Amino acid sequence: MNALTASLTPHELGISEPSSARLAPSHGADDNAYLSGNFAPMTSETTAFDLKVRGRIPDELQGRLLRIGPSPIGPVDRGLYHWFTGTGLVHGLRLRGGRAEWYRSRFTVSADAAVALGKPPIPGPGAGQTSVNTNVTMIGGRIVAIVEAGELPIELDYNLESIARSDFGGTLEGGFTAHPKRDPLTGEVVAMTYVPGRPTLRYVAVDAAGRAETRADIPAPHMPMVHDVGFTRNFVVVLDLPVTLQPERVPGHTFPYFWNDRQTPRVGLIPRNGDLAGLTWFEAPSCYVFHIVNAYEAAGGEVIVDVIRHPRTHDHDKRGPNEGTPVLARWTLDLASGRLTERLLDDHGGEFPRIDDRRGGQDYRYAYAAHWWGDKVSSGPLYKHDVRSGRTETHDFGPGFSSLEPVFVPRGGATGEDDGYVMAYVYDAKRNASDVVILSAQDFAGEPLAVIELPVRVPFGFHGDWVPDRL
Ligand SMILES: [Fe+2]
Repeated sequence: MNALTASLTPHELGISEPSSARLAPSHGADDNAYLSGNFAPMTSETTAFDLKVRGRIPDELQGRLLRIGPSPIGPVDRGLYHWFTGTGLVHGLRLRGGRAEWYRSRFTVSADAAVALGKPPIPGPGAGQTSVNTNVTMIGGRIVAIVEAGELPIELDYNLESIARSDFGGTLEGGFTAHPKRDPLTGEVVAMTYVPGRPTLRYVAVDAAGRAETRADIPAPHMPMVHDVGFTRNFVVVLDLPVTLQPERVPGHTFPYFWNDRQTPRVGLIPRNGDLAGLTWFEAPSCYVFHIVNAYEAAGGEVIVDVIRHPRTHDHDKRGPNEGTPVLARWTLDLASGRLTERLLDDHGGEFPRIDDRRGGQDYRYAYAAHWWGDKVSSGPLYKHDVRSGRTETHDFGPGFSSLEPVFVPRGGATGEDDGYVMAYVYDAKRNASDVVILSAQDFAGEPLAVIELPVRVPFGFHGDWVPDRL
């Protein structure tokens, strides 16, 4: 790591390795960690009502906490199975009036899943397309399950049943992304999409009515894997980092993107209107970034891009992101000099960062993330990062409990950036089932406000959202 300036280390903060990290499944040559422990698939759908609640669910939380991740159905090759490729399984917890009314899990009915489940195929474009497993969120007033690399979204109904493939009413060219970002100031959704084999990255904007518009086709003949996007008031952030399409490297592998030492890492800023003449590239440190935490334009005219950066990925471990500790870093892009400088903000080892989405594209203070160590497949506590002071708070659920992505939900009428709730699906190894935990973001390390016990495991997965009933 070049030119990194550490702020506060876990040791300086008096934080030891979290107890739940010991739960990490082994990662021996004969095993596939992404099919073991709480990565193991659930093979059936679940519906449960009136769930057991400890504590008190805030009355104002009326809606659904949605989440999705891979849960392969049918036989898989344990040697080659990649975590990113499994059948999508959506989870939802419905809250109303202080009660946990229901929990549902439903597979997203891609063509292969329909065959495995014995269900009829869903209508819509993209017949024959495969897994949709990476994010579930609301776009244009509809709930969609989404994934990157060419597959179209799948629209879901209120009870998480797959309705149809969607190309946003015929307006979306090619596939979509797992990480659209909504600008809270304009309502516009921005996305960076790509299709394996096509030598461009496509910058797409989606309006509040759910109509997509291609703003730019950015030349990328090396065909990088681009997982996320960032935006500021005037720019969209383009990640072009050295994991590229190389099917020849492992013939037959289900996920043909691998580390590429020949590719110079870079990050671009393209004007929001998609003007390619205004695209500026900055050389980036050697790393891979799945997730941009937030980006904004600083008072001095520089562009700040906060990222979770992995030192390497998809090189030696060809089944998931597991090659060194991912850390929270700040990239400062100076348009005048064309230079990028990097500063470490936190070195706990974390992933799946979220913010108060009301601060998207603007100066902000707090980010929330889940523990992810990286030299072994593990998860555990949650972190609350103060990116201004460098201070990090930890919520350790205790031995046997592991969380992935936290979601921040502002309290009704909140004015403070952390005035709200942090909600997460948390695996309890002793019960071999999952809880949904609701924390007060301003009392992050304190006792949870509520713990809702689910009857089954929610396998470690990727992303989701709180979708209130009244928007
Ligand atoms: Fe992601």
